[in-house]
Amino acid sequence: MENFWNKLTTPFFALAPMEDVTDTSFREIVLRLSHPDYLHVLYTEFTNTDGLCHPIGRDKVKSRLVVNDSEKALLKEKKVKLVAQIWGNNPEKFYEATKYIDENYDFDGIDINMGCPVKKVVKQGSCSALIKFPDLAGEIIQATKEATKLPVSIKTRTGFTKHITEEWIDFLLTQEPAAIILHTRTQKMQTDFPAEWEEMGKAFDVRNNCKPHIPLIGNGDLFSIQAAQEMHQKYPIEGFMIGRGIFHNPWFFNPDFVPSIDHKLNALLDHSRLYIETWGPHRNFQVLKRFFKIYVNDFNGASSLRAQLMETNNLEEVEKTIQSFKKNSLI
Ligand SMILES: Cc1cc2nc3c(=O)[nH]c(=O)nc-3n(C[C@H](O)[C@H](O)[C@H](O)COP(=O)(O)O)c2cc1C
Repeated sequence: MENFWNKLTTPFFALAPMEDVTDTSFREIVLRLSHPDYLHVLYTEFTNTDGLCHPIGRDKVKSRLVVNDSEKALLKEKKVKLVAQIWGNNPEKFYEATKYIDENYDFDGIDINMGCPVKKVVKQGSCSALIKFPDLAGEIIQATKEATKLPVSIKTRTGFTKHITEEWIDFLLTQEPAAIILHTRTQKMQTDFPAEWEEMGKAFDVRNNCKPHIPLIGNGDLFSIQAAQEMHQKYPIEGFMIGRGIFHNPWFFNPDFVPSIDHKLNALLDHSRLYIETWGPHRNFQVLKRFFKIYVNDFNGASSLRAQLMETNNLEEVEKTIQSFKKNSLI
């Protein structure tokens, strides 16, 4: 299998993996709203390897790997790659989980989460905690690579309690991952402090010195394509990954497009319908409600419409609320 990371035109752009956000329904909406020049890679939510290796656990976690046929068609049409992200702390489970994904799905790559700072995963020695245990991190990378021909990338941070960017990136490069995605914060910084992009300069130098063929993707506090392009002037890495920027603007990856109120409300309706069609009662409606504010903003009446939408309990109520707003505002 080819390493697609090396074939993308630089600078390329990716939407970050986000739990309860980047499910198949939201990814499809982002695909529909994006311009192919500005979106190249999408990620699943992080999926637990122990869960994937256990028959009961598998049923609990595999919804994170669902890809609707309609999303598949758009990925193909827009030539966007889809990467499955996994996490855990046991190399054998990584091997088994990766085999399972390889045999049952059609992803373009596998990514190992070595960046999540959340206490409950760090306590288990997973995700960003692996930065403290390079030997185990190396075993995990090798076990995952052995299990698949898909490109295996690493998404990580610059350190645990303090930046150890050069040392950590140097180590990861010896493992020959297909790409490294570097979030320019330590675990300790969570997302409470600004991303420190000077660290990217250090990672860039290390990468250039020892493994110039391994793509480096930067992540942290990029809130527009223009901001990423300006960062590219300073740090000419291969790609940029955007997380929370998508909450400010669902058209993030279509920077020249100015959505009307109608565009925003229709996107909200499309997303709600697709979410319910995909998950029915199997995912909480409250999770969908968190998205409403990303569509309903910057127009007259937005805040009262948001308040009404937050009172809804199902798709029909969402549709009625939007229809009545459109009627009253003569959209
Ligand atoms: C709601 C939410 C869920 C996240 N879930 C994941 C995840 O599943 N896997 C992961 O590697 N990072 C996860 N992250 C971190 C993001 O991928 C990204 O690294 C972080 O938000 C920094 O990028 P940003 O400053 O552009 O938001 C999550 C972030 C948020 C806000």
